[in-house]
Amino acid sequence: MFYAGGVGVKGEAFQRLVDGVHSREPVSGLTHGFYRYPARFSPLFVRAAIEAFTEPGDLVLDPFLGGATTAVEALALGRRAAGIDINALAIFVAQAKTLLLSDADLASVRRWALRFHLR
Ligand SMILES: C[S@@+](CC[C@H](N)C(=O)[O-])C[C@H]1O[C@@H](n2cnc3c(N)ncnc32)[C@H](O)[C@@H]1O
Repeated sequence: MFYAGGVGVKGEAFQRLVDGVHSREPVSGLTHGFYRYPARFSPLFVRAAIEAFTEPGDLVLDPFLGGATTAVEALALGRRAAGIDINALAIFVAQAKTLLLSDADLASVRRWALRFHLR
């Protein structure tokens, strides 16, 4: 049993947390590969912790944002996300990784990228 803020986690949720802590899988999926920030959490651990301790719509804060693993997973799980970091690079990376693009935005980026592909 694992306790955080007086909330106990057991059973499958506890096992997912333990598996996440011990995971040696490379960090991948979603936008995690955009930039390799040092000393990143395993997304498996972050996902398990968010699912164990929060509900959809809750606000998840990472006060040491780094590569924004927590923010990316929180948004993907339907939570809101906030982060703080002393390093401007972390803020830039987090903004790039969590930017939600509309279909029109995506089409515009594709057109822009295609111009370079054709050269
Ligand atoms: C190991 S990284 C966090 C990685 C992140 N949890 C992830 O999984 O991507 C630690 C971060 O804490 C930041 N940091 C260290 N001291 C800080 C402080 N006093 N205030 C804000 N951020 C700080 C560093 O700039 C660094 O980006």
